[in-house]
Amino acid sequence: MSDPCTLLIFGATGNLAVLKLLPALYHLEAAERLHPATRVLGFGRRPWSDDDWREQVRAGLVERLGERLDRAVLDRLLGRLGFVEGDLEQAEGYRALSERLCNSSNCPPNLMIYLAVAPRHYPAVVEQLTALGLQREERGWSRLVVEKPFGFDLESARILDRRLHRCFDEEQIWRIDHYLGKSTVQNILVFRFANLLLEPLWNRNYIDHVQISHAEAQGIGERAGFYDGVGALRDMIQSHLLQMLTLVAMEPPANLDAEALRDEKVKVLRSIRPIPREAVNAQAFRAQYGPGARAGEALPGYRDEPGVAHESTTETYAALKLYIDNWRWRGVPFYLRTGKRLARSQSLIAIRFRHPPQQLFQSTAIERLKPNWLLLSIQPNECMRLELQVKQPGLEMRTQTERLDASTCTLASTESIDAYEALLLDVIDGDHTHFLRYDEVDWAWRVVDPVLRHWASERDFIHSYPAGSWGPPEASRLFDREDQDWRNGLDG
Ligand code: BG6
Repeated sequence: MSDPCTLLIFGATGNLAVLKLLPALYHLEAAERLHPATRVLGFGRRPWSDDDWREQVRAGLVERLGERLDRAVLDRLLGRLGFVEGDLEQAEGYRALSERLCNSSNCPPNLMIYLAVAPRHYPAVVEQLTALGLQREERGWSRLVVEKPFGFDLESARILDRRLHRCFDEEQIWRIDHYLGKSTVQNILVFRFANLLLEPLWNRNYIDHVQISHAEAQGIGERAGFYDGVGALRDMIQSHLLQMLTLVAMEPPANLDAEALRDEKVKVLRSIRPIPREAVNAQAFRAQYGPGARAGEALPGYRDEPGVAHESTTETYAALKLYIDNWRWRGVPFYLRTGKRLARSQSLIAIRFRHPPQQLFQSTAIERLKPNWLLLSIQPNECMRLELQVKQPGLEMRTQTERLDASTCTLASTESIDAYEALLLDVIDGDHTHFLRYDEVDWAWRVVDPVLRHWASERDFIHSYPAGSWGPPEASRLFDREDQDWRNGLDG
C-alpha cells in the first residue's frame, strides 16, 4: 500500500483534471491502491464548497464512465475530496489552503502538488507555496508534479527550471510526460531488452528507417486557449514523440534505475544531429487542417474552431526527419509525425528493414520485393506485427506479405487504465523512472528549437489539409526515396 498523502490539484476544474486525473484517481480507488487516509484537495477560482466540487466530480465521472461506474467506489473517492477557492496569482487562496492543511487532522502531511494549469502559472504557484513553507519536507515529503510543455522554447524552459529550483530541489520535481506511463510505451523497453531475437538487427546495417507517428481523429475541441500559438511540434513532438524515439533508439541501460535509464535517453537526444536553418524545409514540415468531412459528417477547419484566431498559422500537423549520429544509427532517418483531425486515431512505431543484399528473385514474376516491417501499435489497440514475404500458393513464383501478429492485436483497448494511474502511484512511491530529468527536456528543446525559430520567422503561409484526411501529400517530401512513404496504420 502506498504512503498516505494529500494531493493538491491546481486547476481542479480544468480539462486535464476532469478528463485525466479524476478518472485516474477513480481507477486507483477501484483497484484499492490509495491509502485510506489519502485526501484530494482541489484549488480553483469557482466559489465552491467541498460538496459542490464532489457533485461536479460525480457528474463528470458518471458521464465519462457510464455503465462501468461502480457507485460504491465513486462514493469512496468523493469522500476524500475537498475544495479550496483561490486565484492562482493571489496570496489569499493559498493562505486558506495552508490553514486547511495545518488545521485539518485528516490531511496527511505528505504533499503531492499537481500543477494542472497552464505553464505560465507555474512560477506564481510554486512561489506562493514556498512563501507558506509548503515545499519543506519537515513533517512529510513534498513533491511537485509539472506537466508539459515545460516552457515554450529552450530559453523559456531554462528560465522556468531555474525558477522552480529556487523553491524545490530536483528530487522534489516530477516532470510528467504521460506517454511514459502508457503500458504500451513501457513495453518498448521490455520488447527490446527482454528478447534477444531482434537486437542483432536493431541498427543501421538492417534498418532502413523508423517512423513514429501519432494521428488523432479529434480536432482541438475546446482547447484553443492552450493550443493556438503552441502548435503540434511543441505539443506532441518535443515531448511524447521524442520520448518514444529515445526508447526505440537507446542503448541498454546499466540497470533499470531512474538515473541509468535517463542517462541513456539523454545520450540519444544529444546524438540527434542539429537541424541547421538552411535544412529546416528539407527536414521539417507543418500544416493546418481546413474544413473537411468524415463519414459524411462535415468537419470545421482549424480557423473555424471556437477561440482560434481567424488568421492563425498555428500548425496542427508537424513532421520531422531526424538523424542520430552514433554508431548504431548513423545514416538511418527517424521520421516523427503528428496531426489532429486526421482520418483516424492511431499511434504507431513502424520500423522498415532493408532489402536483402541480393535480389535473387529478379528474373521471376516477383516485380519488386516488399521490405519487412516491424509494427508496434501503441493505441488504440496494443499490437505487435511483423510483415514477412512468403511465396503465394500456385505455380507462379509470386510473393505475398504474411503478417505475424502478437495475440494482443485482437484485444480491444480496455480504456479503463490510462497512463496517469501508474504515474500518480510512481510519485507517491518516490520513483522517478518514468519522469523527465531536466537535461532530457533541455536536449529535446534543442532538437526542435531551430525549427520553431525558422517557422516563427515565416508566419504568412502554412500548408493545409482537409479535416478527416491523412494530411497533406506534400509531407511525403521528407522521404529520401520514392519507395518510402508514411505508414498510416497496421494495414497500410
Ligand atoms: C497531450 C496533448 O499531451 O497528449 C494533446 O496536449 C494530445 O494535444 C494528447 O491530444 C494525446 O494523448 P493521448 O494519451 O490521448 O494519446
